[in-house]
Amino acid sequence: MRAHIITLPGDGIGPEIIAEAIRVLQVIAKKFNHQFEFEEHLIGGCAIDATGAPLSDETINACRQSDAVLLGAVGGPKWDRGDVRPEQGLLKLRKDLGLFANLRPVKPHPALTHASLLKPEKLAGVDVLVVRELTGGLYFGKPQGRFDENSHARAVDTLEYSDVEITRVVDLACRLAATRRARVTSVDKANVLATSKLWREIATQIARAHPQVQLDHLLVDTCAMRLVAAPASFDVIVTENMFGDILTDEAAVLVGSMGLLPSASLGDSKVGVYEPIHGSAPDIAGKSIANPVGTILSAAMLLRHSLALPREAQAIERAVDQTLSAGCRTADIARDGERALSTRAMAEEIIARI
Ligand code: IPM
Ligand code: MG
Repeated sequence: MRAHIITLPGDGIGPEIIAEAIRVLQVIAKKFNHQFEFEEHLIGGCAIDATGAPLSDETINACRQSDAVLLGAVGGPKWDRGDVRPEQGLLKLRKDLGLFANLRPVKPHPALTHASLLKPEKLAGVDVLVVRELTGGLYFGKPQGRFDENSHARAVDTLEYSDVEITRVVDLACRLAATRRARVTSVDKANVLATSKLWREIATQIARAHPQVQLDHLLVDTCAMRLVAAPASFDVIVTENMFGDILTDEAAVLVGSMGLLPSASLGDSKVGVYEPIHGSAPDIAGKSIANPVGTILSAAMLLRHSLALPREAQAIERAVDQTLSAGCRTADIARDGERALSTRAMAEEIIARI
């Protein structure tokens, strides 16, 4: 097949890890007889520097016309003080492309239990899929901003959800659960928030249409605790935007490094955005030590979800699995004194196993 893939390397370590994911995809294309074309565009801080805005219409239009988008990371101290922030580009991309669901699979690798803070016995059997609502909630509610009053500083964010927004993401979570262990945990704060009460009500309704799926509800604070106390008890977690943001960083502790986790942002159209869950890591940018695995696994999700190429996706996932089993490590997951591979060398190990 032919596919046109937009790459948005972004800032910090973004360009380094995207370069490796592209190399992996090119190897897949060759091996399985596909033609993947890559076209690079700007997002984030580098886009602010070049155009004054973190996401131009040109980039958005290119993404709209593509088959899929592979993204690195945005942000950095250079742009922390300005009025326009790199992160606004990422939020606009998600919103404009209608990417309402962010899939974040969390499955610790047995060879990496040393890298996790949790005891190995807690990690046995952990296989969680977090489905994070991505285009609603506090990130997008209006009003939002500074509304100083009577010489007092005052800021407002608004948390709003509609039945439609809740329905589509919970429905997707239920459909995904049906292909797994058929359990959905809907996470909210229904003892306090009106949006969470609605969330719970709609989730209960939607789950009725999926009788094979068992739904339970959990308050977000309890979920945060159980995610480290009994992570194996979860199958699919579905939750609103900010809870999902926080819980997935916490979940990274289970696998041992932020650098390992991929994500897929999906909506109604087939154009998805695939990106690692970590940030731009300015402290290690340009040093060729970043872990490319989260991005390479995101490329596998791209093959599966946007290009319907599950065999090719599996080839990458199996190669990553074997590379970690063989003891290949970047600095973030190496033991003390263990030799750490560069970003490129780690990708080479994965490519050699495809
Ligand atoms: C993520 C990131 C973003 C988010 C930031 C960079 C805006 O933390 O993708 O998890 O909060 O969604
Ligand atoms: Mg985050």
